[in-house]
Amino acid sequence: MKFVINGQKKLTGTVRVLGAKNAILPIIAATVLTENECVISNVPHISDVETMLQILRSMGGSARWSSEHELTICNRALACKPLDQKLVKRLRASVLFLGPFLVRFTSFTLGEPGGCIIGNRPLDTHLDGLAKLGCVWKHNDAFLSVTHTGLVGADVVLREASVTATENIIMAACGARGITKIKNAACEPHVQDLCAFLISMGAAIEGAGTSEITITGGKSLSGTTHAVISDPIDAGTYIMLGLATKSKISVTRMRPDHLDTVLETLRSMGARFDITKDSVTITNTGLLQATKIETRIYPGIPTDLQPLFGVLATQTQGTTLINETLFESRLGYLQELEKMGASVVISDAHRALITGPTPLYGRSIDCKDLRAGAALVVAGLVASGQTVIDHAEILDRGYEHIDHALLTLGADIRRIE
Ligand code: EPU
Repeated sequence: MKFVINGQKKLTGTVRVLGAKNAILPIIAATVLTENECVISNVPHISDVETMLQILRSMGGSARWSSEHELTICNRALACKPLDQKLVKRLRASVLFLGPFLVRFTSFTLGEPGGCIIGNRPLDTHLDGLAKLGCVWKHNDAFLSVTHTGLVGADVVLREASVTATENIIMAACGARGITKIKNAACEPHVQDLCAFLISMGAAIEGAGTSEITITGGKSLSGTTHAVISDPIDAGTYIMLGLATKSKISVTRMRPDHLDTVLETLRSMGARFDITKDSVTITNTGLLQATKIETRIYPGIPTDLQPLFGVLATQTQGTTLINETLFESRLGYLQELEKMGASVVISDAHRALITGPTPLYGRSIDCKDLRAGAALVVAGLVASGQTVIDHAEILDRGYEHIDHALLTLGADIRRIE
């Protein structure tokens, strides 16, 4: 699929943010922890959600859309069998089934997870943590098999504050006998939302949102209802889009407090906003000043917004240093921006210098991963002439109909299957 964008149209109006991709994916996995029905609202229609549901169904779970953004899931009839390799390959989040399936069964076989190619994405932190809870793992033909004879709570120190490793260990710990303490845990809003979901099922979890999380395992977990938090990356994408295209747009149904560092950085660059409890409106469309952008775990600047800062840097005054500290293959979109006229020096796998402001010109470019794709869409809106983005189906993994949202703002964007 391709997106064809005719840039430089005037954008105005409001974008409403939906539920967070990286919250709903672990929550879908967490439904495995109960045999009862879970009803989850504010779920975005994105292909990563569909893939997680297909995996669940292939294991005997039942999952249906009970209304437009609401899922009803019941996993009474789950079978203990290897996950469908083809589905697992489609997304990294398939690894999140590891923890909950090990609570339901004493063994689990996982194929190699796929997902965006943004660097080396090891599983060592997940496996070390699960080993502390009593699991034994080995690589096999399928990729990985994990077994145990009963999960037991333990102290787990994560070498990396990995988001999905924290989530996997929390879910496994819910089914472990005794207390698990996770140190150097990830604090991201989506980790907090997973914990809120688990607590509403009856789990005993303390410290979510801090780097030390304590889980008292062995509670019986029941069905529940839960509304997924609004997606901070979606919200950040649209704010950055507004700033790069100099449009006074409003982003609503969001949590500004989940983007504190991002908004503060943008303010230091000269951006001005009206902020309410659940919205951000851009009030200044003047020239912004370059700054240093260093990605960090929450509450720092999220790596998922780094490519959006990269596009914005082409439209700001001066030289921006981007330091992508988490992943080593997340600067590839800069080569596409260079084709469009951006002034870019890629220093190494983690760092780049972008000097602006430069005009961008419509070109045929290629979308390598989800967030790079969002950045290239913004570049296409900034550019003069026509931009054609290849492999744009990647955007459907994480943004619900981004083209519809942009059409509502006044963009000229077409989807060509
Ligand atoms: N890491 C290890 N060992 C591990 C796991 C991670 O060394 O076992 C390292 C990674 O190499 C990386 C760092 O830890 O340097 C952080 O990786 P993390 O494990 O936190 O990433 P993830 O859990 O695989 C999630 C999101 C990503 C997001 C990252 C960072 C989900 C489903 N995915 O990935 O989201 O970039 O956290 O915030 O939650 C996206 O939405 O586009 C996306 C890629």
